Amino acid sequence: MRVILFTGKGGVGKTTTAAATAVQAARAGIKTLVMSTDAAHSLGDALGVALMDTPGSPDSVVEIEPGLSALQLSASHSVRRSWRSVQDYLLTVLKGLGIDPVVADELTGLPGADELVALLELRRQVESGTWDLVIVDCAPTAETLRLLALPEALAWHLEKLIPAQRGLLRALRPAAASATGLPLPGAPVLNTLRRWHESLLEIQSILGSETTSVRLVLTPERVVIAESRRTLTSLRLYGLTVDQVVVNRVFPDAASPDPVSDTGSHDSGRGSNQTTWLAGWNEAQQRGLSEVRHSFDPLPIVIAPYLPHEPVGPDALAALARLCTGAIGDVLKTAPAQGMTVQQEGRGYLLTLPLPLVSAAQVNLKRRDDELLVAVADHRRVLSLPSVLRRCVVTGAVVRNATLRVRFVPDEKVWPVNEQESVAHE
Ligand SMILES: Nc1ncnc2c1ncn2[C@@H]1O[C@H](COP(=O)(O)OP(=O)(O)OP(=O)(O)O)[C@@H](O)[C@H]1O
Ligand SMILES: [Mg+2]
Repeated sequence: MRVILFTGKGGVGKTTTAAATAVQAARAGIKTLVMSTDAAHSLGDALGVALMDTPGSPDSVVEIEPGLSALQLSASHSVRRSWRSVQDYLLTVLKGLGIDPVVADELTGLPGADELVALLELRRQVESGTWDLVIVDCAPTAETLRLLALPEALAWHLEKLIPAQRGLLRALRPAAASATGLPLPGAPVLNTLRRWHESLLEIQSILGSETTSVRLVLTPERVVIAESRRTLTSLRLYGLTVDQVVVNRVFPDAASPDPVSDTGSHDSGRGSNQTTWLAGWNEAQQRGLSEVRHSFDPLPIVIAPYLPHEPVGPDALAALARLCTGAIGDVLKTAPAQGMTVQQEGRGYLLTLPLPLVSAAQVNLKRRDDELLVAVADHRRVLSLPSVLRRCVVTGAVVRNATLRVRFVPDEKVWPVNEQESVAHE
């Protein structure tokens, strides 16, 4: 089962290219579901069908044509209600802790119910085993990043909260609230937290799986490219594999090598203005395309033409997919794993994390107990260190070849054990 998520800046054509990829895959005989994490109904608009909620059923899968189904998330999902109660509880507790500004930062980024509903639904569909391919049309980048960072971040919080609360509940229940100043969750909230913790770990394993990848959709404009570069870094930081960059709304002449020399001497008046206007855009897009190639190399790039009309409905979407250059139909191939690695190097260890398009100055590292905090701009990931690194200290870090490399050596002041023993016996 393959999962492909489409993300990118607002309005660049995520829904359109996601739906076009889905139609093409389905027509090639791959059993495909296309679903949207977006509460707006634009997936249905692009497919030219009404994806209505069926009363009584939490979500409705609609068959668009043989081999292709689409899913619109329901606005009245029960998860929304239970999430709100848990979210309120988490907010109170974490605010009550009032100690770690980093945690507080993360709090303000706690995603809402829509994101959680989408992730739970993705898991449900993946586990159903019904599909060969699930295509997820995501909301614009910022929300998507929150969505994709959620399982790990929330699971991390829950891991910290659940055992502490369980202990409190057992030993101190009557006095705990006043002793710690923290409200205790009722049993239902605690059970929900535990269930969600499990679900989040499962979602995390789906997102981190080698059969899941992200396609970054953009248009060849400077502002869009700049944001997409940052998005690629953030996606990699969160451990997601990006397997393709889709450049959408490319003017026919911008994609060819020598397009804009013919400004047409016979043109005059309005015609000439239009030609100048078009030549300007062609040139801008050409520059944009070369920046895209330069920025995202070696990722495969798909170029989707700017059609003279809105591609609405399966046939128009399939036509768009056919007109694309590049391997938009490569949906079953998996990209090589790009996760964190740890290897022995001399006396110590080298931890690597692919982190494209950043310089060392933009990366912030912090060691906290058994964790390594890696931050780039607003995005932060808590990496749980493998046991071999827990007894080590960080001796240096560099960014080279689009990879963060952190060096660790054993902390000999504390380890090995016999040295500790000799200290203890003195
Ligand atoms: N290659 C194309 N040629 C012509 N029109 C296009 C193309 N791609 C997208 N469009 C049109 O552009 C509009 C925006 O596309 P779409 O809804 O796919 O963007 P989006 O990135 O999903 O937007 P949002 O951020 O709001 O979710 C739609 O009207 C769509 O039909
Ligand atoms: Mg959309």
